[in-house]
Amino acid sequence: MCGIVGFIGAQEAAPILLDGLARLEYRGYDSAGIAIWSQEKGMEVVKAKGRLQVLSDMVDGGKALKGTVGLGHTRWATHGEPSDVNSHPQVSENGRFAVVHNGIIENYAEIREILQSKGVHFVSQTDTEVVAQLLEYYYRGDVMEALTKVLHRIEGAYALGILCADCPDRLIAARKDSPLILGYGDGFQMLASDVTAVIKYTREVCYLDDGEIAVLTRDGIEVLSHPYLLPVKKERHHVDWEISAAEKGGYEHFMFKEIMEQPKAFRDTISPRIQEGRVVLEDLHITAQQLREMDKLYIIACGSSYHVGMAAKYTLERLLHKSVEVTLASEFRYCEPIVTDKTMVLVISQSGETIDTLAALREAKRLGARVLSIVNVVGSTIARESHDVLYTWAGPEIAVATTKAYSTQLAVVYLVGLYFADLLGTIEKAEYDSIVAELTCIPDKIQTILDQKEQIQYFASIFFNHPSIFFIGRNIDYAVGMEGSLKLKEISYIHSEAYAAGELKHGTISLIEPGTLVVALASYGKLFEKLMSNVVEVKSRGADVLGVTTESRKETMAKTVDHVVAVPDTHPMLLPSLDVIPLQLFAYYVALMRGCDIDKPRNLAKSVTVE
Ligand code: AGP
Repeated sequence: MCGIVGFIGAQEAAPILLDGLARLEYRGYDSAGIAIWSQEKGMEVVKAKGRLQVLSDMVDGGKALKGTVGLGHTRWATHGEPSDVNSHPQVSENGRFAVVHNGIIENYAEIREILQSKGVHFVSQTDTEVVAQLLEYYYRGDVMEALTKVLHRIEGAYALGILCADCPDRLIAARKDSPLILGYGDGFQMLASDVTAVIKYTREVCYLDDGEIAVLTRDGIEVLSHPYLLPVKKERHHVDWEISAAEKGGYEHFMFKEIMEQPKAFRDTISPRIQEGRVVLEDLHITAQQLREMDKLYIIACGSSYHVGMAAKYTLERLLHKSVEVTLASEFRYCEPIVTDKTMVLVISQSGETIDTLAALREAKRLGARVLSIVNVVGSTIARESHDVLYTWAGPEIAVATTKAYSTQLAVVYLVGLYFADLLGTIEKAEYDSIVAELTCIPDKIQTILDQKEQIQYFASIFFNHPSIFFIGRNIDYAVGMEGSLKLKEISYIHSEAYAAGELKHGTISLIEPGTLVVALASYGKLFEKLMSNVVEVKSRGADVLGVTTESRKETMAKTVDHVVAVPDTHPMLLPSLDVIPLQLFAYYVALMRGCDIDKPRNLAKSVTVE
């Protein structure tokens, strides 16, 4: 949700800002803008509706803007439609302050009205303009004084980058509930929404925390606490992944690259944590006693991470013999959750910045729960605010539609399940050994499916024009169906729904008519026959059925359905890791054939930092 980048140094800022914005474009891509200050021209702001390329062309790749300090922004609209005027940077009436913002200023309407009554003229519909105008309103020659007043006055979430024409020897940043990192360079400093925007220039970063303000000059960065401006000592982190990890590397789309990276991502996530046949989770500080006393396990997440939670429920209940409740993060806070100091909460998030998930985490902690999170982005807010964190080692995920993060989240769920079951003594040794052994085979089995991608491409070519597609399954197959359906709708814009197969006849089956495509997931052996009965029900109403099952059941399923995709057999608990692969490929190829913008689907952004 909006990407911010700032640079102050000796080099021309505009090309660096555009390069940083290109790496942040996954966060929002309906408009973009930059502000540059130079001795000759003062504050120059260029912004444009549309993709970053439009802006880049306007400023000749940055060459048309001279100046060594500036801010850039790529937008995902919340307040005010995507347009030139609503793009960031937003500028105060006399042009003194340029502001880029990620988040929502919740009381912007009230402040706007007050400022208007005092004669301030607004030009945009954005909440962000309020920050720029308020800075100007409070400004009496001291930017920090004005900023502390502004931060005191505004409510909501923000990562702010501020450039003031009166003191262009510095950039100022502030944060509350929206991510912001600082990059330390030699003779230059940077700020950004995430590290992908800075690692071409520096690998030394720190994470700004809520209530902190940063002042960046060419020589260094000072972090201060709001409101008393006391110095804060920040820990620096070295980012060690290669920049190529965040580039397409010859693939047409990030999504396809990330799908193909799944064997490696899965292996990287489990390998360091399986030693001599045992799951070793050194980062975890949860004892057997705490687990025994646990009165409830909640899983909290959004979107695809929530779907991992759905699969995790089946897995963890089976392994731990404890009931698990999966809750959408956006609902958790408002459902009066029953949480005690014996409650454990498993939070799942790729970005570690999803605001609903973060808010739920904070609420759970406030109520006394112990929070364990599964996160991909190192140093993200959710990771830092959890009692325990287990990282997925998927590497940077750029495509809006998650694939390798989903797979690695599942991998960590299996590890947690095995580890907890072992501590609780709820798993037999033979079962434990066989799951661990099978877990190490999953990367190769994923590869086997990827190697047959042309078959999925063929099915996509048959069905890509279907107006509506249903996914049905039972138990873990249902959980995977939900992910398959979400993948399809978010990138191909085809209407799709996932149904627990047994639920169809309670209403939804009325939507099945001749030619409707039903993707039937039937990999879970125990419920194969039951699922096949549901397949017969939709077939009798004329549906085309694409079945997904395991190799050992392929022939049986082929007798009833129109087409079958088979995944290798595995331990039932691990099936979601294989079943999801053909569904990701199917969504990808369907979207490709429909000419969709796969990596940047309409209306979406990768990191959802607004409620
Ligand atoms: C999945 O393809 C989506 N991009 C979305 O549902 C995503 O999983 C959700 O927004 C949660 O994000 P998180 O894992 O970063 O918290």
